[in-house]
Amino acid sequence: MKKKQQHPGGGADPWPHGTPLGGAPPGLGSWKRRVPLLPFLRFSLRDYGFCMATLLVFCLGSLFYQLSGGPPRFLLDLRQYLGNSTYLDDHGPPPSKVLPFPSQVVYNRVGKCGSRTVVLLLRILSEKHGFNLVTSDIHNKTRLTKNEQMELIKNISTAEQPYLFTRHVHFLNFSRFGGDQPVYINIIRDPVNRFLSNYFFRRFGDWRGEQNHMIRTPSMRQEERYLDINECILENYPECSNPRLFYIIPYFCGQHPRCREPGEWALERAKLNVNENFLLVGILEELEDVLLLLERFLPHYFKGVLSIYKDPEHRKLGNMTVTVKKTVPSPEAVQILYQRMRYEYEFYHYVKEQFHLLKRKFGLKSHVSRPPLRPQFFIPTPLETEEPIDDEEQDDEKWLEDIYKR
Ligand SMILES: *[C@@H]1O[C@H](CO)[C@@H](O)[C@H](O)[C@H]1NC(C)=O
Ligand SMILES: *[C@@H]1O[C@H](CO)[C@@H](O)[C@H](O)[C@H]1NC(C)=O
Ligand SMILES: *[C@@H]1O[C@H](CO)[C@@H](O)[C@H](O)[C@H]1NC(C)=O
Ligand SMILES: *[C@@H]1O[C@H](CO)[C@@H](O)[C@H](O)[C@H]1NC(C)=O
Ligand SMILES: *[C@@H]1O[C@H](CO)[C@@H](O)[C@H](O)[C@H]1NC(C)=O
Repeated sequence: MKKKQQHPGGGADPWPHGTPLGGAPPGLGSWKRRVPLLPFLRFSLRDYGFCMATLLVFCLGSLFYQLSGGPPRFLLDLRQYLGNSTYLDDHGPPPSKVLPFPSQVVYNRVGKCGSRTVVLLLRILSEKHGFNLVTSDIHNKTRLTKNEQMELIKNISTAEQPYLFTRHVHFLNFSRFGGDQPVYINIIRDPVNRFLSNYFFRRFGDWRGEQNHMIRTPSMRQEERYLDINECILENYPECSNPRLFYIIPYFCGQHPRCREPGEWALERAKLNVNENFLLVGILEELEDVLLLLERFLPHYFKGVLSIYKDPEHRKLGNMTVTVKKTVPSPEAVQILYQRMRYEYEFYHYVKEQFHLLKRKFGLKSHVSRPPLRPQFFIPTPLETEEPIDDEEQDDEKWLEDIYKR
C-alpha cells in the first residue's frame, strides 16, 4: 500500500537520487532521511515487485495504445529500426535485421504518377511471391460516401492476407470503421508535370495509337480537344483552375469534404497522414530509388522488383508510351499554374524532403540539383508512364493484362 502511494512522485522510487528531478519533490527532511539508504542498495522483494508491476502496466498501456488506433505497429517498428541504420554504402546489401512482415498493404495510387508501371510490376511480383493483389474495377471514383467507405473497407479487410490492395482512391481511415489500419504506400510527382501529362493524355491518348483518343473520350468536342493549353490557363477554364488543380493532396488527406478545398487545413492533414500512415511516399522522378526502398521495406511484396524493372523484356514496354502532341505552356502560364498549385507544391516539396531523408538513412545519394529557373517539363522518367485517367476518366488496365499474358 505504501509503495502505491509513492507512485505519483515518479516511478523510480528505489533510487532516491531520481526523486528531486521528478515532479513532486519530497520535503528536505525526507530527502535527508532517505539518502543513507543508498549505500545499502536495499532492494526489497516489494521494491522489485513494484518495479516489475510498473513495467507491466507500461507495457500493457503501450499495447493498448497500439491496439486502439495510433500508427500501425509495423511503422513504429520500422521507425525505430531506421533510427539506428548507419551504413553508408550505395545500393549495398540489405540489412540483416528482419523487419516484421505487414500483411495488409494499400497503394491508393495517384493518377498519372507512374502507377501503371507499378501495377504491372505488382502483377508479376504477386505471382512470384504469392501475395494477393487486389485491384478494383472502379477507376473513376476517388471519393466515397460514408457507406461506400464502410463497405469497401469491410471488403478489403476480408481479402486473403497477405494482400496488396490498389485503387485510385483518396485515403481511407480504416480505424474509423473499426478495421486494422493497413500500411499505405504511394508515389507522386511534380504537380505541374502531372497536370500537363494528364491534360495531353485526355486529349491525345498514348502509344496505343492515334485513334485511341477517339475511343477514350469520344464525346469530347473538337474545340475542347484542340484547346490551347495557354488559353485554358489564362482564360481560367475549369480544367485549368482550382479546385480541379487541387489533385494530389486529397489522396493523402482523406475523404473529409474539406480535403478537397484547396487550403492549409487539407495540406496539414495530408502531411500528418503521410507521417502516421504511409510507409513510403516516393517521387516518380526517382522511381528506381522508390523501388529499391520498397524492396527493402516490404521484401515479401517487392523483393526483386528492381531487376524485373530493369529487365529488357519488360523495359520494352517503356518506349511504347510515346509523347504525343505535347506543347509547353508559356512562362507566364506556368507562373499562373504555380500560383494556383502552391499548396500542391508545398506538399510535393515536403514529401520529397522526407523521401530524401529516408534515402540518406539507407545510404542512397540524392543527386542534389539546383532548382531550375524554368521548370523542366517532361523529364524523361526511366519508364515514361502515362496514367490513363483523371478523376473523372476511365482507367482501363486490360492492356496491362494482355501484355503480361503474352
Ligand atoms: C536503436 O538505438 C536505441 C538507442 O541506442 C536503442 O534503445 C534501440 O533499442 C535501438 N533499436 C534497435 C531496433 O536496435
Ligand atoms: C467486394 O469484393 C467482391 C469480391 O472480392 C467483389 O465482387 C465486390 O464487388 C466487392 N464489393 C465492393 C463494394 O467493392
Ligand atoms: C481516423 O479515425 C480515428 C477514429 O475515428 C481518428 O481518431 C483519427 O484521427 C482518424 N485519422 C484521420 C487521419 O482521419
Ligand atoms: C523501342 O526500343 C527498341 C529497342 O530498345 C527499338 O528498336 C525501337 O525502335 C523502340 N521503339 C520505339 C517506338 O521507339
Ligand atoms: C464511372 O464509370 C462508369 C462506367 O465505366 C460510369 O457508369 C459512371 O457513371 C462513372 N462514374 C463517375 C463518377 O464518373
